[in-house]
Amino acid sequence: MIGMFDSGLGGLSVWRQLTAQLPDEPVLYLADQGYCPYGGRSDAEIIARAEAITDYLLQQGVTLLLVACNTATSAAARHLRLKYPELPIVGMEPAIKPAALSSQSGSIGVLATQATLRGEKFRQLAAQLQNHATIFSQAGTGFVELVESGQLDGEQTHATVAAALAPLLAHNVDHIVLGCTHYPFLAPVIRAQLPAHIDIIDPTDAVVRQTLRLLTPALRSGPLSPAPYRFVTTGEISSMQQFLQHILQRPDRIEALASLH
Ligand code: DGL
Repeated sequence: MIGMFDSGLGGLSVWRQLTAQLPDEPVLYLADQGYCPYGGRSDAEIIARAEAITDYLLQQGVTLLLVACNTATSAAARHLRLKYPELPIVGMEPAIKPAALSSQSGSIGVLATQATLRGEKFRQLAAQLQNHATIFSQAGTGFVELVESGQLDGEQTHATVAAALAPLLAHNVDHIVLGCTHYPFLAPVIRAQLPAHIDIIDPTDAVVRQTLRLLTPALRSGPLSPAPYRFVTTGEISSMQQFLQHILQRPDRIEALASLH
């Protein structure tokens, strides 16, 4: 069984693509909404959450962990790999390499949370690629809150997206990398505001492919039809319920998990 977590609903962008490609494997998705957003938290706080969540997922029988959150991957993946050496772990990678290598203008933009952008992983990768392209980073301020409240369109959403894109557009970027799993849910609004020559780079496909590669038959509980999917939140059930029903058209039941410390 695959276990996934994110600070909230963003990782459902990964869940959606994973389950479309692997419809017969059980998946347990945990939204840490009681602690969302992670983007303004310290690495120590994010590591503590990631560890508590991983312990819980292992107790539930998970055999592979997908950290469906760039911020948690950046802050905690190395720690998790050391602490749980037997557990295969897939994390989110900001896809700046393919963007930098195919840039014509020599400038690319990255949208991510503040915690991801200040992280060592991102800074190292950006330094390695500096001969290929200049990387302009921008926090998607307000994006996570919009997605958590199901506001994927409308005036406020367009204005919030426009404010984040403006500095990147001023630098003549020709690729914009989505470096947070909440952001693919805003991709239609982002696309609508970009000139046609600017590509949006979303790493979700690559992460799903890597998950499928690591998921050996010994790690699988499936094939099961229909695969049982579980959704757990450390926050209020209502926002996740609405999101699953109205945006993903999933009528699944959600379990509340208030005592995950
Ligand atoms: N979805 C997350 C990410 O990929 C976290 C956003 C947040 O909680 O700030 O970065």
